[in-house]
Amino acid sequence: MSNLSPWKKDFSIFVPQAQPYLCYLDTAATCLTPKHVAEAMFHYQCYSHANSHQEKDQINSSEIDKLEQAREKVACFIGAQQRQSIVFNTGATDGVNQVAYGYVEPIIVAALKKGQHCNIVISAAEHHSNILAWQRLVKAYQVELRIAPLAIDGLIDIARLALLLDENTCILAFSHCSNVIGKMNPVEKICQLAKSKGIATLIDGAQAVLRSHCTVATIDCDFYVFSAHKIYGPTGCGVLYVKPDILREMLPSQWGAGMAKNVNYKESEFFSGPSRFESSTPNMASIVGLVEAIDYLNDLSLKEINLYLDDLAMYMHKSLSELAFYRPVVDKKITLRQAKMSTLVSFQCQNIHCQDVASLLRSENIALSCGNHAAQPLHSALAIEETLRVSLGIYNGYADIDKLIASLSHCHQMMALEDFV
Ligand SMILES: Cc1ncc(COP(=O)(O)O)c(C=O)c1O
Repeated sequence: MSNLSPWKKDFSIFVPQAQPYLCYLDTAATCLTPKHVAEAMFHYQCYSHANSHQEKDQINSSEIDKLEQAREKVACFIGAQQRQSIVFNTGATDGVNQVAYGYVEPIIVAALKKGQHCNIVISAAEHHSNILAWQRLVKAYQVELRIAPLAIDGLIDIARLALLLDENTCILAFSHCSNVIGKMNPVEKICQLAKSKGIATLIDGAQAVLRSHCTVATIDCDFYVFSAHKIYGPTGCGVLYVKPDILREMLPSQWGAGMAKNVNYKESEFFSGPSRFESSTPNMASIVGLVEAIDYLNDLSLKEINLYLDDLAMYMHKSLSELAFYRPVVDKKITLRQAKMSTLVSFQCQNIHCQDVASLLRSENIALSCGNHAAQPLHSALAIEETLRVSLGIYNGYADIDKLIASLSHCHQMMALEDFV
């Protein structure tokens, strides 16, 4: 492998005039945008924008076609059997809320009417976006929130999870890959377990959809959510996958013109399928950007990209673990398979404040995350306040990791020297 990524040139931000030498190691927060995506969105907005929601039966069929083709493209990308399972929204957070209010809340209300009390199960490694909507329901109704613990390797402890699931569990919501731990949960096994007990599953795929060779039909989850900006698409755009039979019975969580066929003061009629959940004018420029991102990744070859990232991830884990002061959040002994898959890692540097490390690295134009990464309960459970997080994207090469390692070593030397003085 070369020191630099063959795809770095596709990202304008790396043009030398734009940045001195940007070492971007924060892809888990958001992917940088390839030129192709930015240009497709610009082109759409300037030359072919028209309101896709004018009279659905007459107009602008090209806009409607574009939307339906986009559903097809996304369905193919995540291995869904039907494009009708693809609902466009503003991102993973929106998807969790749509399920919380459109699917889970009616179940809770119906159960309460029968005097039954529901529970919701999430894992201990969730992003705030897969906690807060559930917490809202817990506060509004008498619902119990159960937290599935993690095993020593940072993955969901399936045996202990099984003990939490019962006939009153109305949803099991968990991340495919935690944005702190960076390892892939065995989602098929977990969904099988839930299914055997008749429990619906929601997977937060924000950190996994690209790397996991995700096929929702094989995973057999009921809901899968992700954001376009985590797969080199634009911000503010995302996808909720819903199993077809559930889509028919689920309620919208927002109501507006985009979903309506006929509106009368007494009774209104709504579109069937995913349009029923898209209440306002769709964010077409972003959907165009998402489609372009998928085309871009497919053109490069998803297989090739993932092999490249596997190799880079192993190099990152190996290089970091050689630093004596490196303290990863979960075990240092990562299996080869896990290291290959894990393009993000959170850690501390022994005896140095994370914020101090982050400031020094930023002064050297290395971008990474520092804090609780919107996973405060997980950090509390691990008895740490904050961590540094490094994450890789297709624009990274060995050179970026070497620069990180050199800067961390330099930082450690400086801090050690300060201690000495
Ligand atoms: C695991 C995980 N879930 C959910 C989200 C929320 O994504 P968005 O803000 O795009 O809705 C993120 C964002 O970082 C994430 O990493």
